[in-house]
Amino acid sequence: MRSSHQPLCTRAHQAAALLLVAATFFLTRLLDRSPLSAPPPPCAAPYSPWPHRDLRIYVYAEDEVDGLRALLRGRNDDVTAATCIKGQWGTQVKIHQLLLSSRFRTFDKDEADLFFVPTYVKCVRMTGKLNDKEINQTYVKVVLSQMPYFRRSGGRDHIFVFPSGAGAHLFRSWATFLNRSIILTPEGDRTDKRGISAFNTWKDIIIPGNVDDSMVKSDRLAVKPIPLTKRKYLANFLGRAQGKVGRLQLVKLAKQYPDKLESPELKLSGPDKLGRIDYFKHLRNAKFCLAPRGESSWTLRFYESFFVECVPVILSDEVELPFQNVIDYTEVSIKWPASKIGPGLLEYLESIPDGRVEEMIGRGREIRCLWVYAADTERCSAMSAIMWELQRKVRRFHQSAETFWLHNRSIVNRDLVEFHEWRTPVPLP
Ligand SMILES: *[C@@H]1O[C@H](CO)[C@@H](O)[C@H](O)[C@H]1NC(C)=O
Ligand SMILES: *[C@@H]1O[C@H](CO)[C@@H](O)[C@H](O)[C@H]1NC(C)=O
Ligand SMILES: *[C@@H]1O[C@H](CO)[C@@H](O)[C@H](O)[C@H]1NC(C)=O
Repeated sequence: MRSSHQPLCTRAHQAAALLLVAATFFLTRLLDRSPLSAPPPPCAAPYSPWPHRDLRIYVYAEDEVDGLRALLRGRNDDVTAATCIKGQWGTQVKIHQLLLSSRFRTFDKDEADLFFVPTYVKCVRMTGKLNDKEINQTYVKVVLSQMPYFRRSGGRDHIFVFPSGAGAHLFRSWATFLNRSIILTPEGDRTDKRGISAFNTWKDIIIPGNVDDSMVKSDRLAVKPIPLTKRKYLANFLGRAQGKVGRLQLVKLAKQYPDKLESPELKLSGPDKLGRIDYFKHLRNAKFCLAPRGESSWTLRFYESFFVECVPVILSDEVELPFQNVIDYTEVSIKWPASKIGPGLLEYLESIPDGRVEEMIGRGREIRCLWVYAADTERCSAMSAIMWELQRKVRRFHQSAETFWLHNRSIVNRDLVEFHEWRTPVPLP
């Protein structure tokens, strides 16, 4: 553990402060207003209770913790990162890989502020390489029986990615075992068929979904945006209805106003399925891209809109959006009550002057780098924004109900065993 006897104002702190100020400067310039006010230099005051520090993240290796390998590669050890990196849930792989090469990575657990637990569990489940029961049991094994550092903080300094709409519900008993940990998820509200949301607005971080690689390379987009005046539709919704009220209303509305709204009944396969490139070609052909709620509040469509350059219209009341510390969403999108989906919505969208639409699209073009999973050394990327949020979660001290400390600064468990002697299995909570 990093000793708290460390002087408050070390060289590292000063360097970190400079870095932070520089980062703020760039982000501020990038976002061209000043959404971030520069944090005060950590060493300005003789005593600062919340010093800004550099960030050190330890990434668990797959064989370091029993069970972790199964959560990454399935029971037969045959799921590959290359398979799991594709599609809207690719964040589970991208964040892991980007952390492995991150400048914030540490190999020393004792100096780590945060611990990253890699799993590709959404992919492993999709490919049938672990079922729900196995996933639950494997997580419990990983979390409980072998991770003394997890135990030390009750999981408060441990980071997990749950890349899909199910959020942490992918691990059935998450509420018992992971309810203190930092969860990275695109989903703020998975209440359909679940009862409760797994997202906690104060400790978890909303991440952007993984937009297809062919669309995010700004120099050579697979599908280029088209001029506003050349677009065929006012608005579109190109997704499956999945029996959801809002989506069904849009399909109906499109039949009433076929020249304004494109919203065909799409299927998962067969002739009514849109291929990836065709999908983007349709998406770019409207001024507004509607993003209604599906099984959950999150939809990838919202992020994709920024790359085909239509204005996203959120029709999902419970949605949670990423990086609210730096983005003002009124500049780049519209949120309309889901209960008011109808001809009134189309009338409203029609009343918006093209100048304003262009303005929103222009601003969206500036911030969309925050949806791109590139290295945290990039001036603007999903990863640098995630690091910024993680930095704010760093604690100087790690504690839990099962952690105690003595006069000589020994950290011990309930049996007064010193931290570095904690052996598995340790008593369950
Ligand atoms: C998950 O696994 C643990 C440990 O085996 C078990 O106690 C718990 O009941 C399981 N949760 C569910 C929802 O099956
Ligand atoms: C959170 O986890 C602790 C154990 O770590 C457990 O005792 C508590 O019941 C959990 N809370 C919820 C809401 O499940
Ligand atoms: C701290 O004190 C406890 C209780 O007196 C003792 O068992 C332990 O060895 C001490 N630890 C160190 C590092 O001196």
